[in-house]
Amino acid sequence: MKDILGQLEGRRDGARQGGGERRVAAQHAKGKLTARERIELLLDTGSFEEFDMFVQHRCVDFGMDKAEKIPGDGVVTGWGTVNGRTVFVFSKDFTVFGGSLSETHAQKIVKIQDMALKMRAPIIGLLDAGGARIQEGVAALGGYGEVFRRNVAASGVIPQISVIMGPCAGGDVYSPAMTDFIFMVRDTSYMFVTGPEVVKTVTNETVTAEELGGAKVHTAKSSVADGSFENDVEALLQVRRLIDFLPANNTSGPPEWPSFDVPDRIDMSLDTLVPDNPNKPYDIKELIVKTLDEGDFFEIQAAYAKNIVTGFGRIEGRTVGVVANQPMVLAGVLDSDASRKAARFVRYCDAFEIPIVTLVDVPGFLPGTAQEYGGLIKHGAKLLYAYSECTVPLVTVITRKAFGGAYDVMASKHIGADVNYAWPSAQIAVMGAKGAVEIIFRGMDADCIAAKTKEYEDRFMSPFVAAERGYVDEVIMPHSTRRRIARALAMLRTKSVERPWRKHDNIPL
Ligand code: HXC
Repeated sequence: MKDILGQLEGRRDGARQGGGERRVAAQHAKGKLTARERIELLLDTGSFEEFDMFVQHRCVDFGMDKAEKIPGDGVVTGWGTVNGRTVFVFSKDFTVFGGSLSETHAQKIVKIQDMALKMRAPIIGLLDAGGARIQEGVAALGGYGEVFRRNVAASGVIPQISVIMGPCAGGDVYSPAMTDFIFMVRDTSYMFVTGPEVVKTVTNETVTAEELGGAKVHTAKSSVADGSFENDVEALLQVRRLIDFLPANNTSGPPEWPSFDVPDRIDMSLDTLVPDNPNKPYDIKELIVKTLDEGDFFEIQAAYAKNIVTGFGRIEGRTVGVVANQPMVLAGVLDSDASRKAARFVRYCDAFEIPIVTLVDVPGFLPGTAQEYGGLIKHGAKLLYAYSECTVPLVTVITRKAFGGAYDVMASKHIGADVNYAWPSAQIAVMGAKGAVEIIFRGMDADCIAAKTKEYEDRFMSPFVAAERGYVDEVIMPHSTRRRIARALAMLRTKSVERPWRKHDNIPL
């Protein structure tokens, strides 16, 4: 018996070595952790239960029959807990055939995906891999197809999170692309469909991996990734933090954590947040952190379309999604990028029953050929569509400008928001006073324009015209914003909306 136990330990040890000392040392030399070290950091201490440690590839082509068979076949899979809540995890081992996906490697991931879906628990993929195992050909492609299909089946049912922790190509970027959130590690992770060498061959472009698909590219330019972190440790700890905000699945409701922040806390500094000059910016993040429990805000896509802010926080210990125009960037205008960014976030919240708090200070949609040629109509419609199809509680606070179509789009009463508040500084109108008067009174002299502008401002540039019609439910004191939002969300907990049956909607993609 002792011998058998010894054999088991020996086999386990063998699997834990991954691609061997030399490759592990190379991994560490690049500032990267190994697949197992990453899992240890991600999960609660001692909670990891590994599956399929002894699985090996079955490939015999291109010398693979003579190649070393490494137990685990390049991916470590299993489940564990994050702050006591069950999650499933797979972690690609770059030290084994570059973490590439073989038929058996795919079967390991598929098993975890199926279990996560059955258990209705989140799944986290830690990716550091070169795509399909080239020696396996179509068997690897088939494996990816199985993974992709399950990504889609789980979409909107369980949270799926991808962390890119090394060079990732081919299927190792397409599978993440169908998950809810992608995070990258700065300087050591890349995402591309084909790497720099293929790019050079096909298009004759010379480009580095960083320029082609580094964290900066994908968080600030392409918006493929939702955030980036300094190193493996920070990335994994931040994913733990994110998991704490997310529901286990689409019917469990948001998690509830103890809060030490009273819901009726007032903040007098908010009474002077909006400057007297309507063209002067202020930082909407100040309002966000002063409203949320303990000022804890997990921002999504912080580096992309900074004119809109999206992220998770808590009110009375329960998760809320926050969408807010940012007057500090492009005056908070809605453009194509901001609309797409916010639409995706709103849809995530709605799919997972996370109430949404919308903070509005928006001068309208961004005019111009660049925007129109880029499909502003379609992208703006995404956000309008996303809010309009929401069945989760929607609470809106207009702090300053709510002009034109953007007023309608930003969770107005008309498209289904439940509780709409405005600060006394709110201005709800078709457009700014000067622009409006210059159109209506075209050709009049400057004095006349000034007088009419003043008249327009007095008539429309306040929250009261909208309040008189019931488009805003109440004009509230800025200092009481947290209390008012908390009370509205508490009241809305029992919100129930029925929609007519349909196979699926047809959002303008
Ligand atoms: C088999 C692979 C591999 C792969 C890397 N390796 N990628 N083995 N199949 N796809 C192996 C290498 O042979 C090497 O083995 C080890 O992993 C490390 O690779 P290096 O190239 O030395 O590392 P690095 O210089 O860091 O470059 C990493 C890389 C590069 C950028 C990922 O290896 C690369 O470009 N790989 C190919 C990427 C690719 O084109 N994949 C197919 C995509 S198609 P040793 O023994 O030396 O340690 C695809 C289809 C899916 O995925 C369908 C999508 C819709």
